[in-house]
Amino acid sequence: MSQGTSFWEMDELRLITGAMVILALATGILVVVPYLLLRPVKAPAGLKPYTDIQLAGRQSYIANGCVYCHSQQPRDIQQAPDAKRGWGRASVAGDYVYDTPHLLGTMRTGPDLLNIGARQPSADWHLGHLYQPRAYTPGSIMPSYPYLFEVRQGVAQAGEKALTLPPGLTKPGEVVIAKPEALALVAYLLALDRTYPALPPRSASAVASEDAP
Ligand code: HEC
Repeated sequence: MSQGTSFWEMDELRLITGAMVILALATGILVVVPYLLLRPVKAPAGLKPYTDIQLAGRQSYIANGCVYCHSQQPRDIQQAPDAKRGWGRASVAGDYVYDTPHLLGTMRTGPDLLNIGARQPSADWHLGHLYQPRAYTPGSIMPSYPYLFEVRQGVAQAGEKALTLPPGLTKPGEVVIAKPEALALVAYLLALDRTYPALPPRSASAVASEDAP
């Protein structure tokens, strides 16, 4: 360095103090305040914890990268017309109490899925759509997931789930069996249903006292 104060001649104490203050502020705003805000959040009455099979399906949702194209956070009508799209009311913190890690997602290459279990409750539809999205939504750019299924000649054995597919997807005599991972993934998709009210119903006495002049 030529003229003026070089880096090493600066007041180190001021530098370190400044750095610590900024770090403390950032930690407060980004870690402590959110923690205090979210700590009291409880599960809404209508939300059930995931079962073991649904949790296995959730792992498969993560492993197959569904979150890269699908969000799980319907937004308020002032931010996006999600409710008009049929994706459900704006989500609230309580909707995610059983989600660790949460799968909010940011990309919306496909529709938001937080309420897909209510919007599309047919397991057969989901299995077929995962096997070949374009058979259900022409021109869909969603990848197919053939490795979640077994294609073979013959019929399904006892305990196996054979797909009911639109015509033309299988050769004569072929049967498509859903592997356990596909069944778990669909169990998870069907559990995505946050259509209960975001807030508990107000008690009669609370309504009366709030409406009082
Ligand atoms: C490359 C982006 C992409 C990926 C990855 C992807 N999807 Fe999709 N998905 C889409 C698009 C686009 C649509 C809309 C067209 C359609 O229905 O196929 C869609 C539609 C859907 C629908 C129907 C939504 C509705 O409202 O009807 C479901 C359910 C779904 N995807 C589940 C999944 C699951 C589960 C995975 C992971 C195994 C996944 N998707 C991975 C892009 C993607």
